[in-house]
Amino acid sequence: MAEHILQAHDLVMKFGRKCVLDRISMQLERGEILAIVGGSGSGKSTLMRQLALLQTPTSGSIELFGERVLEMSEFRTLPLRRRMGVMFQNGALFGDLTVLENISMPLREHTSISLETIEQIAMLKLALAGLEPEAAALFPSQLSGGMRKRAAVARGIAMDPEILFLDEPGSGLDPVSADAMDDLVLHLKRTLGLTVVLVTHDMDSLWRVADRIVLLADTRIAAEGTLQEVLESGHAAAHKFFHGRRGRVVGATYDQ
Ligand SMILES: Nc1ncnc2c1ncn2[C@@H]1O[C@H](COP(=O)(O)OP(=O)(O)OP(=O)(O)O)[C@@H](O)[C@H]1O
Ligand SMILES: [Mg+2]
Repeated sequence: MAEHILQAHDLVMKFGRKCVLDRISMQLERGEILAIVGGSGSGKSTLMRQLALLQTPTSGSIELFGERVLEMSEFRTLPLRRRMGVMFQNGALFGDLTVLENISMPLREHTSISLETIEQIAMLKLALAGLEPEAAALFPSQLSGGMRKRAAVARGIAMDPEILFLDEPGSGLDPVSADAMDDLVLHLKRTLGLTVVLVTHDMDSLWRVADRIVLLADTRIAAEGTLQEVLESGHAAAHKFFHGRRGRVVGATYDQ
């Protein structure tokens, strides 16, 4: 039977009086690539932050690696947090640190490994993320957009996480670089057995890498399943999202 390493029950997130997520329940299976999709402002990044324990929901519960985490003290959640890596929507590298220092950061903060070993681990992650060794000494401003995303992925996998959260890893990249980013995600899943939660708008990515998708609309999960299942769900939100003029569903008749 599939192992659910992360389960959310009835998550609600309100900012002031505005409800962004309403009773979201979902599971993550070990080894799968789950894509969270939905229109801009539908709460994808918010949901990702909550699943990654970076923001506390207004109500609801989260079970991570078999433990109910929202009831725990922050201190007790630390070992669980270390089993997750995150790449934020804007990459969010520290501009005044080199790539190597950026990748080393989680290891410096969370482990007592010697600096020399940390450097070796960071170089390994750099290579795993598809960057040349020369990139290690560069600052984020000296990198292309694609390289910056790879550096952020390298930092996300620095601590050998079991779950990697990626918020729009392909956005802002040309189609060839976005494809390369998809290859990287598939490579990490295959070689490291990573479980991945991916936020994306990109139909090509969804077809290529997502095992399952969750579609957010109007604060709820409008549809979930394989992309095929969601496309065939007949749900109005799925139709609007995937069959809109920018949806590029092969064979779809576009709304005019
Ligand atoms: N800290 C916050 N305070 C107030 N409102 C917030 C906060 N964070 C998010 N929101 C609101 O929650 C809603 C969902 O935002 P979120 O960033 O999760 O959307 P998204 O689906 O990731 O959008 P995009 O595709 O543009 O990245 C938005 O209306 C946003 O303004
Ligand atoms: Mg977002």
